[in-house]
Order: sequence, then C-alpha cells, then structure tokens
Amino acid sequence: MLIVKDNPKSPISESYRTLRTNIQFSSFDDNMSTILVTSSTPSEGKSTVSSNLALAMAETNKKVLLIDCDLRRPSIHKKFGLSNEKGLSNLLIGQHSFNEIAQEITSNLCVLTSGTIPPNPSEMLSSKKMELFLKEAEKNFDFIILDTPPVVSVTDAQALSTIVDGVLLVVSSGHAQIPEVHKAIELLQYVKANIIGIVANKVKSFRRGYKYYQYYYYGEGDGKNKKHRSKSSK
Ligand SMILES: Nc1ncnc2c1ncn2[C@@H]1O[C@H](COP(=O)(O)OP(=O)(O)O)[C@@H](O)[C@H]1O
Ligand SMILES: [Mg+2]
Repeated sequence: MLIVKDNPKSPISESYRTLRTNIQFSSFDDNMSTILVTSSTPSEGKSTVSSNLALAMAETNKKVLLIDCDLRRPSIHKKFGLSNEKGLSNLLIGQHSFNEIAQEITSNLCVLTSGTIPPNPSEMLSSKKMELFLKEAEKNFDFIILDTPPVVSVTDAQALSTIVDGVLLVVSSGHAQIPEVHKAIELLQYVKANIIGIVANKVKSFRRGYKYYQYYYYGEGDGKNKKHRSKSSK
C-alpha cells in the first residue's frame, strides 16, 4: 500500500506533503532537484518514504522521476505493482533506452525500476554513465528521487550521494541504533554529501491512536556540501 495514493487524506499523507513543502522551500536558493533517500540499516522505510514522497511531489504539477537504485534488494516495482523485467541496470549497460524502461504512473510521475539484478551494483551506480544519465534526466524532470540501499552496509548510497543535490536519511524507531545512525552520518559527511534532513519513520503516535505514525524532523542542510559536479542550468 502506498498511503499518499491509497489514502490521500490521512495524516500520514499530510506529513509527506509537509516534507515535500520543506524540500521545496530548501531549494529556494539552491536547485534541489535530485534527492537521494537512504538509511543506516535495512528495512527502515527507504522505499516507502521515496515512493510516497514522489507521489506527494507529483501532486503539485511538477514532473517527478522515481528511480530504484537499490540494485541488491529492489522493491519499488512491488510497491507500485510494476514489472521489473527491465530497468535502470539494463539502461546502464546500454541494453535499453530511457523511453523503453520508464514506466508512467501518472502524467507527472515516472518510475524507473531497478531492472535485472547485476553482479556489480556498486560499480554500476558509481559509473560515469550513471552520472551522465542523471544529468540528462534533470533536463526533463523537476524532481528526481533515488531510492538506495542502506549506507552502512554497502557503498552504493555513499557514492550516489556525491552526484545529487540533497540526501534524506530515514531513521526508523525500533530499528536503528544510535551508533549506526552516527556511522551513516559520518559516511555521508566523509564524501561531503548534503544531508538535508532526517525522516523519523515508524514513530508510534499514542494521541491519534495509530500503531505507526510517520513524522519527520527536518534537519539543517546548510547547502555548503554541494555536489561536486557542475549542474546544467534549466
Ligand atoms: N511508517 C510505517 N509504518 C508501518 N510500516 C512501515 C512504515 N514504513 C515502512 N513500513 C514497512 O516496513 C517494511 C520495510 O519498508 P521499506 O520501505 O521496504 O524499507 P527499506 O526500503 O528501507 O528496506 C515494509 O514492509 C513496509 O511496508
Ligand atoms: Mg528498499
């Protein structure tokens, strides 16, 4: 279930819209069009947050591309009920073009699933080809959201964080341990990633009576850690 699509009036969907608004505000000065979503450990809700955030962004008449960059345990195709016969990995090896693999969800939201699971995900995601692809995609979309593997386990998210505008770190209550969250932040800061916020996920809300309630704390990305490549102006 994708709450923003299936229950758009719920308080959780509303909190995704608040997250969206804050990201849009944070791009007032800087162009914040490519956003990477990661977490320190598995199953904290990276794919859930990226999918719902993409849906919330697409509601505002912006063109949004959601990319499953978790080439190890992909799940975006499952969340949207899409085929994953071909996707990002097939594009990166030159087997298919963007138009052959992009799947349109609404007129504003396009999804790129992971594609065939490759033997060398880190290599693929940190390749020049990936960087060039992202740069090209930025010309056609207002927002691009990248769902990635956990940052403490593998280097994929760390590498990708250097070619995006901002990084959101999902921290799930009951999953993440404080030392792991610190480690994740350390790894991201080491490559000068621009951490724009922390999304607190699976936080219990007693007042509203929900077992799980999504809440977020928006951090203080200061824009100092800009991505290393130069951006094309749109
Ligand atoms: N806020 C939430 N409340 C309840 N279940 C959630 C929430 N966020 C994620 N989940 C569930 O937790 C599991 C892991 O979420 P997922 O987004 O796939 O994590 P990740 O991509 O970080 O591995 C999924 O079964 C998902 O439905
Ligand atoms: Mg995932």
